[in-house]
Amino acid sequence: MKVVDFTVERAKRFNLYCELVLRGDFKPSLPGQFYMLKGDWGYHPLLPRPISVMDEDVKDGKIFFLIKNVGEGSRRLTELKRGDKISGTGPLGNCFPIDKISNKDFVAIVGGGVGVPPLYYLLKKLNENGIKPHFFEGAKTKGDLILQGKIRKLGCDLKLATEDGSCGKKGFVTELFKWINPDFIFACGPYEMLKAIAKTFDKDGVNCYVSLEERMACGYGICLGCSVRTYDERSNEHFERVCCEGPIFDSKRVKWI
Ligand SMILES: Cc1cc2nc3c(=O)[nH]c(=O)nc-3n(C[C@H](O)[C@H](O)[C@H](O)COP(=O)(O)OP(=O)(O)OC[C@H]3O[C@@H](n4cnc5c(N)ncnc54)[C@H](O)[C@@H]3O)c2cc1C
Ligand code: FES
Repeated sequence: MKVVDFTVERAKRFNLYCELVLRGDFKPSLPGQFYMLKGDWGYHPLLPRPISVMDEDVKDGKIFFLIKNVGEGSRRLTELKRGDKISGTGPLGNCFPIDKISNKDFVAIVGGGVGVPPLYYLLKKLNENGIKPHFFEGAKTKGDLILQGKIRKLGCDLKLATEDGSCGKKGFVTELFKWINPDFIFACGPYEMLKAIAKTFDKDGVNCYVSLEERMACGYGICLGCSVRTYDERSNEHFERVCCEGPIFDSKRVKWI
């Protein structure tokens, strides 16, 4: 982890989203890791915001993020312009356990909303290792489906679902893959989606990993503000920090509420 002074190279806005390309002297990250990002805007808001790495080109000194404007912090980030300065602490957190997968495994990736960008980075890394996952993306409506072009460009089989039926299958993303029997499933998105996936695949032989989102203050283990309830190997309940022990957890270890 390090604090990096980034400069905005490009900011591409669409709907409520902004794809930020930042330039700086950063350390390589692994899929699922994130940065705490804060622009040069003083005290409002005071705290940086956790944003997942969507892609990076270490040689060229470029790192990519996709941000949705949902409140003050994310609004400020989506309004950055070319040449603006921004500070980023990272890469933070653990990563998806890609070293456990072989190219014989059936791998499913499931994303919703701002959970999709880190999964795109995961897909890219899996492809580099010769693994061809199946990608399932869900959203409330067509305008909220993101990164379809980039995912398909990697030659990935992408299936879509929207709650209002405006694109792909009508209903929750979980409707798309109830029938599958994966060796690995990697998911990132809204809590209820992750919970439904965890319940569906709560059986032996399926390795299900979820990336949890929690409000974060520090991002590196000091404030304990991001703690969630989990179970250890003896099924004892305890707390773990999403920013340090996570954000990726074996779904069977999460105490779902
Ligand atoms: C590990 C991690 C990776 C993330 N990656 C991305 C990413 O790649 N792109 C992206 O756009 N967003 C990402 N997020 C979510 C992002 O951090 C929040 O949307 C942002 O912090 C909201 O801050 P705000 O000031 O804009 O909103 P606030 O004014 O603080 O809140 C606005 C609304 O968003 C909800 N909210 C705030 N923070 C979160 C959160 N962490 N999870 C769920 N709901 C939240 C609030 O309950 C409220 O309804 C990530 C979060 C985590 C924990
Ligand atoms: S955000 Fe402070 S401990 Fe996780």
